[in-house]
Amino acid sequence: MIYVDNSATSYPKPKSVLETVINVISNIGGSPGRSAYRTAIELGRIVFETREKIASLFNIKNSNRLIFTSGTTESINTVLFGLLNSGDKVLTTSMEHNSVMRPLRFMEKNCGIKLDIVRCSPEGEIDLDLFSNKLKNNVKLVVINHGSNVIGTIAPLDEICKSVKKYNSLILVDAAQTAGIYPIDVEKIKLDFLACSGHKGLLGPQGTGCLYIRDNISIRPLKFGGTGSNSESDEQPEFLPDRFESGTLNAPGIAGLGAGVSFVLEQGVEKIFEHGTLLVKRFLDEILSNKKIKVYGPKKPDKMLPIISFTIDGYDSAAVAHRLSDEFDICTRVGLHCSPWAHKTIGTFPSGTIRVSFGYSNTTEDVDNILKALNVILNKNKL
Ligand SMILES: Cc1ncc(COP(=O)(O)O)c(C=O)c1O
Repeated sequence: MIYVDNSATSYPKPKSVLETVINVISNIGGSPGRSAYRTAIELGRIVFETREKIASLFNIKNSNRLIFTSGTTESINTVLFGLLNSGDKVLTTSMEHNSVMRPLRFMEKNCGIKLDIVRCSPEGEIDLDLFSNKLKNNVKLVVINHGSNVIGTIAPLDEICKSVKKYNSLILVDAAQTAGIYPIDVEKIKLDFLACSGHKGLLGPQGTGCLYIRDNISIRPLKFGGTGSNSESDEQPEFLPDRFESGTLNAPGIAGLGAGVSFVLEQGVEKIFEHGTLLVKRFLDEILSNKKIKVYGPKKPDKMLPIISFTIDGYDSAAVAHRLSDEFDICTRVGLHCSPWAHKTIGTFPSGTIRVSFGYSNTTEDVDNILKALNVILNKNKL
């Protein structure tokens, strides 16, 4: 099988992730941080170490400001519902995923927030002047997709953050596609909130994710309940991470995430990004020369994520994706990728595109085999 749906979720996971999850479930029983017996303490330590590893990856000084969630969606919802009040203005872009657009639309309709959307170019790029101008409008929160899950465009976070700080707004970055794949330094660019999936570039199991909340920012929790701390009180603890981690933590998942992040730290994010660049270049060099194939997005291998969307003239994208799967065992993702706004921006709504997203374990041979399969489908030659 050739798996090129890493933007949805990474596969395969490093062997250490599997071994860690199996070891926790098999040998380390108990609820992390909840009891005094040996294995509960051991699990608490594993959760703490994962927090520390993720903090070091993003240069987060105080790992208590990093909370575990089930993924980027929960992280984003935590910020939006915890921060915003009626009358607050939110600025976002036309490249956002439904995990941003749906809660924002809900809050616009039901909670009285005001939403402004900056239209990006068909390559997914933000007009920074237009964006800064809109910031003059007393914006409470900016929500930005760091890396497009449809076409791989990387948002210029440095410039965006400078403007956001100039106008005293807050910024929430959706790093679902960039965490573990492209460098992020929360201190350097002074991010307020960073939402990440654990199961994509951080190589952990599904159902894992995290949210960074800058010091001195106070928001309401999304969930209330048992935290194993301040148990005598009916009130939710004020301190982090407990304030946002009600209920038994997904300890096997978090342990696996820790193993995934260790792998990323050992390899180095830069090296992982370079590997993606190599694969994108090889793929684009070939398909851009094919007049029947239309590629969307920046088409600059060293300045984009390893995510390529394309359509084929005269071919139904869903049918092509099915043939790639059925005849060649190649796993792509077809359709709107939960991002109808992004597809409207690039001009592929409502039919969508075929998306190939490479991961750390894909090889140049995988690229060549996908290209050969596409050629067969296009009746150019036979395998
Ligand atoms: C840009 C973007 N944001 C948010 C999400 C949602 O992530 P999760 O499934 O971890 O909640 C995704 C997932 O594909 C994504 O690509």
